[in-house]
Amino acid sequence: MIFDVVTIFPDFFSGIVAHGLLKRACAAGQVEIRLHDLRDYADDRHRTVDDRPFGGGPGMVFKPEPLFRAVEALRRDGASFPVILLSPQGRLFSQSVAREFARQPRLALICGRYEGVDERVAEHLATDEISIGDYVLSGGELAAAVLMEAVTRLIPGALGNEASSEQDSFAVPESSEGGGLPAPPELLDFPQYTRPAEFGGWKVPEVLLSGNHEEIRQWRRRRVLEKTWRQRPELLQTAPLGPQDRAMLEEIKRAALEPTAPMK
Ligand code: ADE
Repeated sequence: MIFDVVTIFPDFFSGIVAHGLLKRACAAGQVEIRLHDLRDYADDRHRTVDDRPFGGGPGMVFKPEPLFRAVEALRRDGASFPVILLSPQGRLFSQSVAREFARQPRLALICGRYEGVDERVAEHLATDEISIGDYVLSGGELAAAVLMEAVTRLIPGALGNEASSEQDSFAVPESSEGGGLPAPPELLDFPQYTRPAEFGGWKVPEVLLSGNHEEIRQWRRRRVLEKTWRQRPELLQTAPLGPQDRAMLEEIKRAALEPTAPMK
C-alpha cells in the first residue's frame, strides 16, 4: 500500500511513522508513506497555498491550484488511485470504510487546513471526502494518520498476528461482507484482563481463570452485549443478533433494573 500524503506539515508525520504498527509495516515494505509538501506546488516566491474566502468571513481557504498540481504530479506516471480529502464535511470513516480502502494498492490523502479548502477540490479533484468524526480539527493531518493506521491494520501480514484485527470491536469478518449479507456485526469489545489476578483489591472475574472455554465464551458475549447496550445502544439496531443474544440482552436489561450484586 502506498499512501501519498499532501500536507503543509510533512514533519507532523515523523512521529507516526517512527513507532509501532506503521513503523513495522514500512520497514517490512508492506506500506510506503510518501509525504508531499503542498508548498512545493505553490507558484509564488512566498509559497502561498491559501487565500481569503470569496463572500467574506474569517480565516483562510486553501487555493485549488497547488492541490491540483500536487495530485497531477502524483499521477504523472499514469497511475490511477483514489484521492481522499480529509474534512469535517466528509462521509464518516468507519471500519467498513477502512476495509474498502485497504483493498486499494495506493491512496492519496489531502490534508485540509485553515477555514476550509476551495470546494472545487472536493468536487473535481477528490474522489472521496472523509471525516473521522463529528468534531472539527484544525487540519486533516491527524485524520490522515488515523485513516492510515486503521487501513494498515487490515493489510494482510501487517499486524503480525492475523487473528487479532478480525477480533477487534467493529471488525467484520471478510466472509460476511458484501453479497447482500446483513449489516456488519458492529459491537463493542469485551473487557480484557492480564496478570496479576488481583490488583489493588480488584479481582479478575473468576470465570476467566476457570479454563472453561464455553463459560468464558458466554461471559464474553454477555459483556459485549452489555457494554454495547450501555455505551452505544444504536449499534444493536443493526447488529445481526441471534436468539441467544436477544435472550441475553433481555436478561441484561432486566438485571440492570434490579438492585442485585454486580456480575462476577
Ligand atoms: N479536518 C478537520 N476536522 C476533520 C475531521 N473531523 N475529519 C477529517 N478531517 C478533518
